[in-house]
Amino acid sequence: MTATSIRAAVLDRPGVPIRIETLDLDPPGEGEVRVRMVAAGVCHSDLHVRDGEWDREGPIILGHEGAAVIEELGPGVAARHPGLRPGVLVALAWLIPCGTCRGCRSGRTWLCSASPSYTHRMPSGLAATHRPAGAGDVLTYCAIGTFAERQNVPAAAAIPVDPATPHAVAALIGCCVTTGVGAMTKTADVQPGSSVVVIGLGGVGLSCVMGAALAGAGTIVAVDRVAAKLEAARELGATGTILAGADGDETLAAIRDLTDGGPDVCAEAIGLPATIELAIASLPVGGTAVLVGMTPFGVRASFEAFPFVDGGRRILGSNYGSADPAVDFPRYAALHLAGRLPADRLVTGRIGLDGLEDAFGAMRRGEGVRTVIGFDETA
Ligand SMILES: NC(=O)c1ccc[n+]([C@@H]2O[C@H](COP(=O)([O-])OP(=O)(O)OC[C@H]3O[C@@H](n4cnc5c(N)ncnc54)[C@H](O)[C@@H]3O)[C@@H](O)[C@H]2O)c1
Ligand SMILES: [Zn+2]
Ligand SMILES: [Zn+2]
Repeated sequence: MTATSIRAAVLDRPGVPIRIETLDLDPPGEGEVRVRMVAAGVCHSDLHVRDGEWDREGPIILGHEGAAVIEELGPGVAARHPGLRPGVLVALAWLIPCGTCRGCRSGRTWLCSASPSYTHRMPSGLAATHRPAGAGDVLTYCAIGTFAERQNVPAAAAIPVDPATPHAVAALIGCCVTTGVGAMTKTADVQPGSSVVVIGLGGVGLSCVMGAALAGAGTIVAVDRVAAKLEAARELGATGTILAGADGDETLAAIRDLTDGGPDVCAEAIGLPATIELAIASLPVGGTAVLVGMTPFGVRASFEAFPFVDGGRRILGSNYGSADPAVDFPRYAALHLAGRLPADRLVTGRIGLDGLEDAFGAMRRGEGVRTVIGFDETA
């Protein structure tokens, strides 16, 4: 068994800078496929881990938003996954269902609580990447670790998409597009003509804007504290924008102004208690807050209970846009190719693996939307 040498972005432990290392990658095992990464997006969830807001075991190759080309199938894959062959373009899913937990049994596989992806190892329970000369295993974030030139991934995480899909778009379908578009079209089931507010306009929030537009929302108000984000939202279908200042009450008043007293659906796509509370406070009677942004562990938010109950309001958590990747990834790719999901507009920067720490810095400052890592065969 000869290992392949790969370059990858490794986080030794949460809270420290990423380092680019050369690692050994095992041949693909039972139920795994070897892929060559072609594009990987930088998502705020990677930054949560990088900054130690979510405790994760290390060392680990970060990255959970990626597109790749299949190079080799491990034993047993060809028979069970006839769509997977060398040369096929796949978008990678960061959550594959266990099939037996309560969420999976209810048919809502995006709620899987025992996903093998969350072990950050291959389905065998082992790591496929190692530091050379027996210097120890390196885990892979959500079992796909897309900040690497090559990876082994569980076959179920490799979802074929139309080969005409631009690589960066296929990568973004792996997380932010599916998360945001699905939050609006699937979790919240936004209705034609309804009013939607989206708070926070990164890759996830702008995908909520695209999802609301796709669902035919009549009013889409986009809110961010960075002016450039508002412009991007308008291009993706927002009908109104609000530049959020330090005063939450002013933002609330502006939201009510632009939505005839409050939106039918208000999405929060940041993960801050103040904006989660703002989303809930903005609701008119019968309104729904969709919480998409992820907070650091242990954070709480609150709301006034009486009007919430009296007014029949709702709060929904939305994980992975309620996605079934095998169904939804090809669908979102097809919508992009048909000109109805302009996800390419989310890409504001392209880097190599060694640009990651700078990309994280830009994300902390709210600069740009999605930075995409391109992988050069010769790199
Ligand atoms: N629910 C899911 O399944 C899921 C999936 C992927 C990501 N996420 C989470 O979604 C969140 C957003 O991810 P992203 O990659 O789009 O992040 P991002 O950092 O690119 O975007 C966040 C946006 O919020 C804006 N913002 C920050 N503070 C603000 C404030 N106080 N008021 C108004 N705007 C503010 C920033 O300017 C930025 O535009 C993260 O918490 C991420 O972990 C959730
Ligand atoms: Zn993500
Ligand atoms: Zn499950």
